[in-house]
Amino acid sequence: MNIIRPLRKSDREDVLEIARHTWEGHDYIPYIFDSWLEDKDSHPVGVEYNDHIIALANLRVIDDGRTGWMEALRVHPNHRGKGLATALTQYVVRLAENIPVYCIRYTTSVGNETSLHLAEAVGMKRKFDLAVHWQENPAEISWRVSSFLLHEVSANEVYQDLINAKLIPFNILVHDWKAFDVTPKGLNKIGLTARFWVRKHTGSLASFSLGFARDASSGLQWSFTIYASDATEFLNHLSHHVEMAFQSGCTSIFMAFEPDYVETLHNLDWVRLEENEDDEWALTLLERML
Ligand SMILES: CC(C)(COP(=O)(O)OP(=O)(O)OC[C@H]1O[C@@H](n2cnc3c(N)ncnc32)[C@H](O)[C@@H]1OP(=O)(O)O)[C@@H](O)C(=O)NCCC(=O)NCCS
Repeated sequence: MNIIRPLRKSDREDVLEIARHTWEGHDYIPYIFDSWLEDKDSHPVGVEYNDHIIALANLRVIDDGRTGWMEALRVHPNHRGKGLATALTQYVVRLAENIPVYCIRYTTSVGNETSLHLAEAVGMKRKFDLAVHWQENPAEISWRVSSFLLHEVSANEVYQDLINAKLIPFNILVHDWKAFDVTPKGLNKIGLTARFWVRKHTGSLASFSLGFARDASSGLQWSFTIYASDATEFLNHLSHHVEMAFQSGCTSIFMAFEPDYVETLHNLDWVRLEENEDDEWALTLLERML
């Protein structure tokens, strides 16, 4: 019989086994499972079958208690297609309602039809999309532009400028596949791991980006998001992050950016597109108010 229950330390091996079978072993769960168990705002849950965990998901309360962030939905390949993800998603939504939070959100790839179907089944709607691009070997990219000087800023310095500039759609900031309301506390939290850069023009923000080096299965990855008022601003930040990736010894880059700049990116001669890199190469934010 299947039981849905909170995950615990002793489930580690089963969780790692599921991760080994997800995205050809490039899953990030092995890097964060322990932190879920120590985090009072995380509610990792799993489906137990024959004394083993065969599916899991985590609900993390963020944005000062307003948002239930749904993440890491996984079902072991041997048990897919039996409704386990549907059951877990419904369970997590009830969990969020009981905490309670005001809304639930998650991001997924726009090409992940199953994930989109699951979200719709619990009443979640797509709020906005951001394009993404992934590439190996930033050290090989010699391209740089520096039309304008970028300034590194702290969370406290950038908050009011970000609000005034209206650069960020819905004031929801995407950072490494996660989305946060733009608030002083939220920015400070992101600032614990990421760094922020801006360019100001006649007193207001013309562009903003954030980035950090994270552990990935293939080595260090420079992950960044760019919000820009035009293509020149976009390229300026892109060049900066390619340099940051190089300086931090990262072996790959992962970027999220506004769909308006997809063509600008694809026109750069160093950009290597995956075989099927098109509109599906985007992430989407799903949301439901509770
Ligand atoms: C995505 C995943 C969690 C689905 O798990 P699952 O237990 O097989 O899903 P379910 O059996 O509950 O079925 C999901 C629903 O999606 C539907 N579905 C499956 N493939 C689909 C597709 N290609 N397009 C649209 N809907 C699809 C199913 O028909 C089912 O809907 P229904 O109940 O209305 O018929 C699982 O495949 C997985 O772990 N994938 C790798 C990790 C991942 O992508 N996680 C989600 C994003 S973070």
